[in-house]
Amino acid sequence: MSSGLFITFEGGDGSGKTTQAELLGAWLGEAGRSVVRTREPGGTEVGVEVREIVLHHRGDIAPRAEALLYAADRAHHIATVVRPALARGEVVIQDRYIDSSVAYQGAGRVLDPEAVRGLSEWATEGLLPDLTILLDLDAASARTRLDGARTRYDRLEAEASEFHDRVRSAYLALASAEPERFLVVDAAAPVDEIAAEIRARVARLV
Ligand code: TYD
Repeated sequence: MSSGLFITFEGGDGSGKTTQAELLGAWLGEAGRSVVRTREPGGTEVGVEVREIVLHHRGDIAPRAEALLYAADRAHHIATVVRPALARGEVVIQDRYIDSSVAYQGAGRVLDPEAVRGLSEWATEGLLPDLTILLDLDAASARTRLDGARTRYDRLEAEASEFHDRVRSAYLALASAEPERFLVVDAAAPVDEIAAEIRARVARLV
């Protein structure tokens, strides 16, 4: 048993996860907690290399190979960064985790979601977050935000809006299947309001 706390942020590209993860990390840090901010893919040196392949490889990657690459990144990240931090009693705040694979590789690429989940469970020896914050935003608004922030799209961002609609629906289904693990927030709300909603929920856990 670890005394740490594992919080993940999920949502479509352009939903504002990173901003909210940073705000939450700063708040917990000010409250005296030791916080580790990390992400998938790319939370380790090995992961940075995997990230480069999955996001920027120029040719096609078979959907199952893509799922395995994300799972490989995750296995190494959980074993070498996240579990040790939790064992030290720290708060781990992470951009994206298993739910990303179920939504993007399962619903987006149309692989069997249970198989995708099973792969990640094997990769992580079944580590689940204490809390998952889903920043929910419709695909069209997310695209408008990304257009303002990007000079080029990665392989997943470049997918058609139907892909991103499927990802969003899958996330909402995951959240309603596990309401005690998820907090769903409207990502179109002002940044400060979202941050306050998240802090209120996290305050109940720390
Ligand atoms: P992210 O780091 O959030 O992108 P950025 O930093 O560019 O905002 O995520 C990278 C992409 O990887 C994102 O489009 C979602 C995708 N992804 C998956 O498809 N499956 C996964 O398991 C994970 C973790 C991410």
